[in-house]
Amino acid sequence: MERDLQKVLIAEEEIRIKVRELGEIITRDYQGQELLVVGILKGSVVFMGDLIREIKLPLQIDFMEVSSYGGKTTESSGAVRILKDLERNVEGQNILIVEDIIDTGLTLSYLLDILRARKPGSIKVCTFLNKPSRRKVNLQADYNGYDIPDEFVVGYGLDYGEHYRNLPYVAVLKPEMYT
Ligand code: IMP
Ligand code: MG
Repeated sequence: MERDLQKVLIAEEEIRIKVRELGEIITRDYQGQELLVVGILKGSVVFMGDLIREIKLPLQIDFMEVSSYGGKTTESSGAVRILKDLERNVEGQNILIVEDIIDTGLTLSYLLDILRARKPGSIKVCTFLNKPSRRKVNLQADYNGYDIPDEFVVGYGLDYGEHYRNLPYVAVLKPEMYT
């Protein structure tokens, strides 16, 4: 393990099993339908790459990137700016938003407002991680990998200052790294 990390929270093999499970549930829920899987850059890319290979349905992928205004890297402010938008019109489509983690929920709640205004046929959220204790808005994912405690985690797509996204497991960063 790298020296900036305190402990491994979710091991690689455990992740593989969970992602397969999520893929099976999604496949069942959308049977007979097509999906537009929308990844929120950049944190979702690792999870999304694994997840879509476990979804046995016709699907397309697209990405959005948003940035929260305001300073600290471990905290989001809620005010969100679109850095990259979807390529196509999503009216009538079944959107599945893929997120790395829902923390305060502010980012996602803003995104849902934007996307709902575009009149998709349906819209659901699949998040790999969830920090329920940090929520500032009432919001729940339709598909949820793991609930985790209020600790800052990295790996499997999640970053601290753009680092650690490539770790194949999820680890807790040493608090002295960001305090
Ligand atoms: P929210 O708007 O507070 O829900 O923030 C969501 C975003 O904050 C995620 O997409 C991550 O980019 C980032 N984030 C929140 N918690 C963590 C964490 O523990 N590790 C890495 N990134 C995090
Ligand atoms: Mg981030």
